Amino acid sequence: MNMQGKNPKGQRIPNGMLVDNYPRNMWWVAAYSEEVTTKPITRWLLETPVVLYRLEDGTAAALYDRCPHRWAPLSEGHVSGSKIICPYHGMEFDTNGNCTKAPTQTMMPKTAQIPSYPVREAGAFVWIWMGDPEAIDRDPPDVAYQVDKDWSFITGYMEVAANWILIRENVMDLTHIAFLHKNTFKQDDWITAPDTYWEGESICYEQEFDLAPLSPLFCAGMGLPEDKPIKRVQKGTMPSLAISFSDWKVHDPKPERGRRSDFIMRGCHIVTPSTKGKTHYFWGAAFDVPKITQEVAEKTKASVVAAFNEDKDLLQKLQKNVENDPRGLDYLEVTLGADGAGVKVRQLLNNKLAAEGRSLG
Ligand code: FES
Ligand SMILES: [Fe+2]
Repeated sequence: MNMQGKNPKGQRIPNGMLVDNYPRNMWWVAAYSEEVTTKPITRWLLETPVVLYRLEDGTAAALYDRCPHRWAPLSEGHVSGSKIICPYHGMEFDTNGNCTKAPTQTMMPKTAQIPSYPVREAGAFVWIWMGDPEAIDRDPPDVAYQVDKDWSFITGYMEVAANWILIRENVMDLTHIAFLHKNTFKQDDWITAPDTYWEGESICYEQEFDLAPLSPLFCAGMGLPEDKPIKRVQKGTMPSLAISFSDWKVHDPKPERGRRSDFIMRGCHIVTPSTKGKTHYFWGAAFDVPKITQEVAEKTKASVVAAFNEDKDLLQKLQKNVENDPRGLDYLEVTLGADGAGVKVRQLLNNKLAAEGRSLG
C-alpha cells in the first residue's frame, strides 16, 4: 500500500477537529462581565446551552438553559431577587438549579432540578467550571491588569467555525505573522523559532528582536511613530488552555524628551468551545498606558480585527477541508522547530484529558 501522505504515527490531537477534545475540569471564559446582567443571556459553552445572568444583588450565575418541565429556555425568562423564572409556566429556580416554586401546585416535583455551574469573576470576564465541582483546585488565572487603571484594555469577540485547539496553537506560534499577516501586522522580522519553556504550569515562548519598526497596529497605543526603529521582546505565556498572553515589550532607545522608552502591549487570547466545531474567541489588546483616547482605541481595534479575520478565515477553511475530506485525519502532519510551544500545548491537553480518564486516540 502506498503510505505516502499517510500519518504513520496516528497523530491524535487533530481528532479534536472532528470530535470533542476539551477538558471539563478547568475554568473557561463564559462571557465578558459586562455581558452578564439581570437580563439573562444564552450561550453555548462546551456543547451545552447555558443561561448566564445576575441576581439582583449583582452575583453572576449559570444554569443549564433548559427548564426541566417542558424544556423552555430559561434565558427567555427573567430574574426576580435571587431566582430565575421560566418564561413558559413560571417555575422558579435558585442558583443551585433547585426549583423553589411551581405556581400551579404547592409541592415541588423532586425531579425539578437543573444542572448549575460554578462561576467566578476575574479581570474583565465571567469564568465557568463545567466539570466536576469537587475537582475545583484553583482560581481562574490572574488577569488583574484588565481592570487596572494604569492599563488601557481594548476588547473584541468573534465566533470562529474551527476547533478551539487550532486557535490556541495559532496564538502560541506567532511565526505566522510575517506571512499570514504581512499586510496587516507588517512585522516581517519574526522568521526564526523562539525559545519555549515551562514556567510552573504555564507554557512560554520568548524571543528578542533587534532594531526594527514596530507593527503599525500598536504604534498609536504607545504614541510611537510608525517608522521609528525600536527593540522588542516577544514573550508569550499560557497559564491555561483557556487563555494566553502575547506580550510585545517595546524599548525605544531614543525617546523624545520627556517620553517613556518602555511599553508593553499585552495581547490576550481566550478560547471557549461552543457548539461542535465552533469556538468563542474573546481577545484583548492592552497597553500599559492609562486612558488612551477613544480614537486610538477604535483605530487599534479596527486594525486588530482586520488581522484576526485573516486567522479566522484561514482556520475556518482548514477546518472545513478536514471535515469534508474523505481522508479526514488520515494524513501526515509535520512538526517544525517553531512548533515548540504548540507541542507543549498538545502535551498539556493530553495530560488534562488523561486526568479526566479520557484520551484522543
Ligand atoms: S417549561 Fe418551564 S415552567 Fe413549563
Ligand atoms: Fe494570527
